[in-house]
Amino acid sequence: MKIAVFSTKAHDVRYLDDANAGNTHSLTYIEARLSHTTMGLADNQDAVIAFVHDVVDAVVLERLAAFGVRIVALRCAGYNNVDLEAAKRLSIAVVRVPAYSPYSVAEHTVGLILSLNRKIHRAYAHVREGNFALDGLLGFDLHGKTVGIVGTGAIGQVVVRIMAGFGCRILLTDPLPSAECVSLGGIYVPFETLAAQSDIISLHCPLIPGTRHIVDKKAIANMRVGVMIVNTGRGALIDTTAAIEGLKSRQIGYLGLDVYEEEGGVFYEDLSDQILRDDVLARLLTFPNVLITSHQGFFTHEAMSAIAKTTLLSLTQFDAGTPFDQSVVLVPFTRT
Ligand code: NAI
Repeated sequence: MKIAVFSTKAHDVRYLDDANAGNTHSLTYIEARLSHTTMGLADNQDAVIAFVHDVVDAVVLERLAAFGVRIVALRCAGYNNVDLEAAKRLSIAVVRVPAYSPYSVAEHTVGLILSLNRKIHRAYAHVREGNFALDGLLGFDLHGKTVGIVGTGAIGQVVVRIMAGFGCRILLTDPLPSAECVSLGGIYVPFETLAAQSDIISLHCPLIPGTRHIVDKKAIANMRVGVMIVNTGRGALIDTTAAIEGLKSRQIGYLGLDVYEEEGGVFYEDLSDQILRDDVLARLLTFPNVLITSHQGFFTHEAMSAIAKTTLLSLTQFDAGTPFDQSVVLVPFTRT
């Protein structure tokens, strides 16, 4: 199949080329994000491979359908950027990579927790400047603290396992409880209880209408003073403006973000010689107790390799008319 791959960086090319070793497909790598401006680049293609910041709304899907694109393969787990109803209406199949390495994101989450607590990012900078004093670096023992995990799917479960290993008390919220999390000592409670009792809250649920701004002004007010909030899920799980107010009032003691509401067009780009136009992000960057990474939770060798293999396998199966593994399907294909 002829496939347009949007939002590609050198590492994407490396892993997708490896997965396409037999040259089963003809891959056209496009650096630009898929958007209303760039959708014309998919002309004459059978399929599109898209990523987290690509715009796959009704306008784009209609143009792709007119070009003859029959499938959009997301090389990620989240799909909040895709209009699934429009895809269904236009008979464009949509697949994703539901699970590649939950360890990659879970371990990054724990990295943020450890760094925020022990101020490793600040200590690194201090020592390089010749400042060997301990002022400002005081942390706390994780052992015995209460950790609240919102969403105990693939990634949340791994975080639970790791935090249980630290000797933390674990509170959980998920409409679909996990027996494994319970066996690790986790206790399922309503979100409000988890928010009120946790020292550390980590978000691992999908971004859907019911979870948008799950951490808002009201939820933050209900949390322990000095709470640590970590979000490696999706940016809009947190109302960023409310979080900034919470940081200013010290209700929030630590904030770790791998995702941000308005990350599109900023994350994954080197903007170091430009003026940052996003005043909310700029404000967040001024807090000493905020640690932001650029949506890199998934970025390990194992995850990249699995993402590329699953994405190309789905496209090969689509081409052959072989049924997909049900877990990858967001919109099934309808043969006409
Ligand atoms: P998953 O689908 O295995 O688990 C999500 C869990 O959230 C499910 O158990 C579901 O029942 C639960 N959930 C749904 N609504 C909820 C609610 N209102 N409250 C609490 N829990 C709720 O997904 P997985 O693989 O664990 O990924 C979780 C999220 O992590 C993804 O949706 C994605 O947004 C994000 N992600 C971030 C990455 C990164 O690089 N930072 C990479 C991969 C995923």
